[in-house]
Amino acid sequence: MTPETAGPAKGDFLLHAEELSHHFPDGTLAIDGVNFHVRRGEFLLLMGRNGSGKTVLIRHLNGLYKPTGGEVFLEGQPIRHNLRETRRRIGLVFQDADSQIVGQTVWRDIAFGPENLRLDREEIERRVEAALRLLGLEHLRDHRPHLLSGGEKRRLAIAGVFAMDPDIIILDEPFSNLDFEGVRQVLEGILALHRKGHTIILVTHDFEKSAAHAERVVIMDRGRIAADGPPEEIVGILGDFGIRVPFGSDRSMESLTWLNQ
Ligand SMILES: Nc1ncnc2c1ncn2[C@@H]1O[C@H](COP(=O)(O)OP(=O)(O)OP(=O)(O)O)[C@@H](O)[C@H]1O
Ligand SMILES: [Mg+2]
Repeated sequence: MTPETAGPAKGDFLLHAEELSHHFPDGTLAIDGVNFHVRRGEFLLLMGRNGSGKTVLIRHLNGLYKPTGGEVFLEGQPIRHNLRETRRRIGLVFQDADSQIVGQTVWRDIAFGPENLRLDREEIERRVEAALRLLGLEHLRDHRPHLLSGGEKRRLAIAGVFAMDPDIIILDEPFSNLDFEGVRQVLEGILALHRKGHTIILVTHDFEKSAAHAERVVIMDRGRIAADGPPEEIVGILGDFGIRVPFGSDRSMESLTWLNQ
C-alpha cells in the first residue's frame, strides 16, 4: 500500500475541508490552504493566538462564509450543494452570546430554531424542555434573555443550538468573560452534549480547562494548521504558538483534570 492510500478515505470524515482559503476584499489572507477533518463523535480543541484564523475557519465549516479557495465537505459531499441542511447539521455558538438572542423569553428563544425547522408542537416542546434541563436553565424559562448574566446567556446560546439537534456543535470561545462557576456550568453543558453523541469543536484559549476532555488539539498559526495531535503530545509545544502553558504541566497532563476533582 502506498502512503497515499494508507490513510482513511475522505468519506470516513464527518466533516472535512480541503485547501480552504479566504481572502478578504481588503487583502487579508485570513486562512491559507487549510486541510482539516473531524470524525464523528470527536471532541476537538481548536487553538491558536489572536488573529490566527480560528473564527474565520469555523464560519466556513457551516457555510456562513464562502471560501475564496478550496471546499468544505459534510460526509464527503460539498456543503455548498445544500447550505440549509448543512446549517441544521452543524450548529455554531458565537462568541458574542447577545448576537444570538432572538426570543422574548428563554423558552421562546430556544424554541426559535426548532420552530424554523417546522417541527410539530409536541416535538418543539420536547426539545426545548430537554435543552433547558441539559443546560440548567429550567428556573429561567420565563426570563427575558437580555437580562440574563453572561454565563446564563452563554448557556442559553448553547441550548438554542442543542435544540436544533445538530450532528456537530462548534463553540467559539464559550468561556470568555465567565467566572469560575460560569466556566464550570458551560463546560458541564458541553460535556453533556458530547456524552449524548454530538461531535464537538471547541475554540478556546484555555487548554487547562478543556484538554482533559478532548481527544485532539488542532493549533492554527497565521491562517494555517500548525499542529494536530492528542493533548498529551501538543501540551509540550503550546508555548511556541502563544498559548499559555498550564501550571505544573511539566509537559505532562497530570494537572489537567480540572473538572473531575
Ligand atoms: N471581515 C474581515 N475582513 C478583513 N479581515 C478579517 C475579517 N474577519 C477577520 N479578518 C482577519 O482575519 C484574520 C483571522 O481572524 P479570526 O477572527 O479568524 O482570528 P481568531 O483566530 O478567531 O482570533 P481571536 O483569538 O482573536 O478570536 C485576522 O487577521 C483578522 O483581522
Ligand atoms: Mg476568534
